[in-house]
Amino acid sequence: MERSEIIAQLRENMSRAYAPYSNFHVGSVIRSTDGQYYNGCNVENAAYPLGVCAEGGAISAMVQNGSREIAEIYVMGDGDALVTPCGGCRQKIREFANAETQIHICGPEGLRKTFTIEDLLPFSFGPDNLNNDEPKSILE
Ligand code: THU
Repeated sequence: MERSEIIAQLRENMSRAYAPYSNFHVGSVIRSTDGQYYNGCNVENAAYPLGVCAEGGAISAMVQNGSREIAEIYVMGDGDALVTPCGGCRQKIREFANAETQIHICGPEGLRKTFTIEDLLPFSFGPDNLNNDEPKSILE
């Protein structure tokens, strides 16, 4: 996908957000390292803490479809401030990121700034801390 197509897809994903409580619509797109694309939007709930962020939705779609590594994740939201992932989503991204994974923060007009997971979540806790054998294997 061209960058311009991804930006258009992000706008579409944003428009599908279910955010009647915050009225803050967020869209996400993941390109996995195996070349697949996954979409997400935030889905809120009347029981407020149960709401799911756009990034979390895209990660769930990715894993459900068998991909396990994020090459790029895009996040788009409204407003002048950078819509960087919340703390919980940084940890969720970290699980499936590598040192080169790009986290692209966008506004409706396009790309604003790009980060790595090390930028957003330094000294993070991850699968390696648990000493599991090949925690990311698809063939388990
Ligand atoms: N939200 C996301 O989906 N992703 C972000 O990166 C920031 C915040 C959502 C959560 C909630 O539905 C709304 O935006 C306001 O916080």
